[in-house]
Amino acid sequence: KSLRVIGVPSDLGQGRRGVDMGPSAIRYAGLSEKLEALGYDVKDLGNLSVAQPESRVQGDVKLKYLTQVHAICDELRGMVAQVMADNAFPIVLGGDHSLAIGSVAGAAEALGGEMGCIWFDAHGDMNTDETTPSGNIHGMPLAASLGYGHDDLTRIGSLFPKLKPERVVLVGARSIDPLERELIAKSGMHVFTMADVDELGMSTVMRRAIEIASSGASGVHLSVDLDALDPMYAPGVGTPVHGGFTYREGHLAMELLASAGCVTSVDVVEVNPILDSENRTGKMAVELLSSLLGLTVI
Ligand code: ARG
Ligand code: MN
Ligand code: MN
Ligand code: MN
Repeated sequence: KSLRVIGVPSDLGQGRRGVDMGPSAIRYAGLSEKLEALGYDVKDLGNLSVAQPESRVQGDVKLKYLTQVHAICDELRGMVAQVMADNAFPIVLGGDHSLAIGSVAGAAEALGGEMGCIWFDAHGDMNTDETTPSGNIHGMPLAASLGYGHDDLTRIGSLFPKLKPERVVLVGARSIDPLERELIAKSGMHVFTMADVDELGMSTVMRRAIEIASSGASGVHLSVDLDALDPMYAPGVGTPVHGGFTYREGHLAMELLASAGCVTSVDVVEVNPILDSENRTGKMAVELLSSLLGLTVI
């Protein structure tokens, strides 16, 4: 099986510099070597070219760097669709979570729609241009993929919407904005909060999430925001929130996805090496990907 790595060194979807170095941090943690050791053919396609915020004028004041984020996502959409058309598995390294608008669009296009999506996140990423408290597009990618929000984010590519709520599952949520909560309820998507993980256990949560996302689906896109993990295990993220997955819960989730064999594309986002210590979060990203791609103890 062939894996293709695509780096998206962008921090334009949020306020803190440093997430643009996420792809380097994940590569430096030994990504290609570790995946090759699992027996895969791994090719790193390099990084998309992304402008530095310092060199860019912000046109739209409400949605920060909308023009640039749109361009990045559209380019990424094409790359992900091409990788999947070539029968390879795309691994997208972020970069802030706004890039998922592009990877979800490309994967859904390649699979011809009917794609499920599992979204690991402390946040909902269900804000729109009307509800955003921050103007940061990384708080909007799940909403955009479900068809809510600014046209430049929802209308990338040909499919609209990219995802249907009955096959979308958010896991790990513990920080949702008030208006975002209303859209989550209205949309009909599924949510397992950290309270659900506490009460049911990660194993039950994941079995249910896999069932919801994959039933009748042509494939499942997995979007991993490292802030789903507790900051104790993934301190290098832009928007840390206490009370996330433990190290073991994170791995169990990936191992259950590996044995289900349903995931057809993945993003690993929000790694910020500037806020990290000794690249712990970059290493965590590589470990989680290894578990997702079949690393087992024996
Ligand atoms: N809900 C907040 C916002 O809209 C934070 C979003 C954080 N998103 C993320 N991908 N880390 O600004
Ligand atoms: Mn998040
Ligand atoms: Mn456009
Ligand atoms: Mn996110």
